[in-house]
Amino acid sequence: MTATGSGLPFGIDFGGSGIKGAPVDLTEGAFAADRVRIDTPSPSTPDSVAKVFVQLLSSFDDSDGPIGVTVPGVVKRGVVRSAANIDKHWVGEDADRLFTEATGRDVHVVNDADAAGLAEVRYGAAKGRRGLVIVTTLGTGIGSALVYDGVLVPNSELGHLEIDGHDAEKRAASSVREREDLSWHDWAKRLTTYYRKLEQLFSPELFVVGGGVSKKADEFLPLVDIETEIIPAKLRNAAGIVGAALYATESNA
Ligand code: BGC
Repeated sequence: MTATGSGLPFGIDFGGSGIKGAPVDLTEGAFAADRVRIDTPSPSTPDSVAKVFVQLLSSFDDSDGPIGVTVPGVVKRGVVRSAANIDKHWVGEDADRLFTEATGRDVHVVNDADAAGLAEVRYGAAKGRRGLVIVTTLGTGIGSALVYDGVLVPNSELGHLEIDGHDAEKRAASSVREREDLSWHDWAKRLTTYYRKLEQLFSPELFVVGGGVSKKADEFLPLVDIETEIIPAKLRNAAGIVGAALYATESNA
């Protein structure tokens, strides 16, 4: 068991390969105890995922604050509305209710990129930045968060912009670079097309680039040829958990 102190919010990052969770200290924007990871069940239906959450929480028996959960899809008032890269049974699922019933805790579900965006703006790479910040996550798909003066506009789904007749994430996600064995240079060309489109539509102050590949930002970000400042995320793989815990806490405020 990990002692955490009571009242702390808990964040769960539900991804394609792993489900990770930790209690979060919101004054620091950091884990309050070591993170626990369990493999994502296959198929990752809502009920099987809920069981994993219960198992995960049992490692932290004295955390009793609200729980935030990231989901890689559109989430409106707790209901999942899209499932581009996850089991299709999620569409229409009232995930807030399912997880609240399964865990006996107060659970709030949030889009994964929105959680990362909140965390980066509050504690990370975009801390203190005003105006429009666009946080993108480059992973299996492309996630996006629009944050204006610190306020999130949820479910922007800019990974699905249609560019040259293609769903943008099918051309420029990090998984596509791996699958097609693209050089950094060739991938950066696709990213340039993508971020130029975002620039043209939104004229943001700043782009923040997250996702696992952001730890190799030096290899590709300098090759992305755009006008707007573009920087790597800071919270790395903590962003989802920290952002989800923040979201859950502020949902109750
Ligand atoms: C989904 C988004 C998600 C992103 C990153 C996209 O395919 O539509 O909701 O944020 O992948 O996981």
